[in-house]
Amino acid sequence: MKNFIEISQINPSEIESLIQRALEFKAGKNIPVYSQYPVAGLFYENSTRTRISFELAANHLSMPFIDVNPQTSSEAKGETIHDSLLTLNAMGIPFFIIRHQQDHLPAKLAQDLQHTNIQIINAGDGCHAHPSQALLDILTIIEQKPNLSTLKVAIIGDILHSRVANSLQQMFKALGIAELRLVAPKVWQPEQVAFGTLSDDLGTAVEDVDVIICLRVQKERLAENEKLDLQEYQKHYMLNEMHLKQARQDVMIMHPGPVNRGIEISAELVDCQQSFILKQVQNGVYARMAIFDALVQTINQ
Ligand code: CP
Repeated sequence: MKNFIEISQINPSEIESLIQRALEFKAGKNIPVYSQYPVAGLFYENSTRTRISFELAANHLSMPFIDVNPQTSSEAKGETIHDSLLTLNAMGIPFFIIRHQQDHLPAKLAQDLQHTNIQIINAGDGCHAHPSQALLDILTIIEQKPNLSTLKVAIIGDILHSRVANSLQQMFKALGIAELRLVAPKVWQPEQVAFGTLSDDLGTAVEDVDVIICLRVQKERLAENEKLDLQEYQKHYMLNEMHLKQARQDVMIMHPGPVNRGIEISAELVDCQQSFILKQVQNGVYARMAIFDALVQTINQ
């Protein structure tokens, strides 16, 4: 595996290897020392979970982590991101974690820099993809419900603008889960989806699923002409205790974070016994260690 850009570029056996490696790391087994491979993090959008867990993952593998602040770097003087990567690579950095508001920018950089030893890790690009989130999510699910061939999942929220929903569709498609229900108000339903069925009926969607994933209401991704009535959204789509009563007793409740309590999910459900939200955060460190490990194998081939 060279670069980590989107789940559809990774075959199912590679995904399974990443999951197994992440579980090994979680068990504290076979942790390599990669001190010769520095990593740079370039976050052009805010992040707590992804940025810190990539940094911790690098630390656990003894990889020096350099947090490049785009606001204080020479990009503020007009240097392009492409030239910044070449500059940092000349100092000996092969791995670059990039979060950016522009769809497909990590893929474009990986393509433009393919003849170098640079490897790009997509930490979320616009509305397009968030592949490491999909990996930590499937890791969290598999720990509880390993039989994916019978797994039923509902994803609720802004499917249209969600990079998390896009990467999860690709992940669930690759691993062949039984059913994916995508629930969104009509204005947030895309014309096409990679996997799953669309509906605007939350009540029916949660009835017999194994996992419910709530998405954050992303005000920053809505275009100026897209009106958002938060009260209407909350009334019809906020996951609450009534939905939990309708769902299976062992349903897992998940959310990629950051959570808007009381908007897409009630505060009580964030903290309830069936919530795996903090388990997702914990697994993010191991999933990201597995990603680094797979990319280092490519350098060593
Ligand atoms: N889920 C996620 O990407 O969270 P952060 O924005 O905090 O990284």
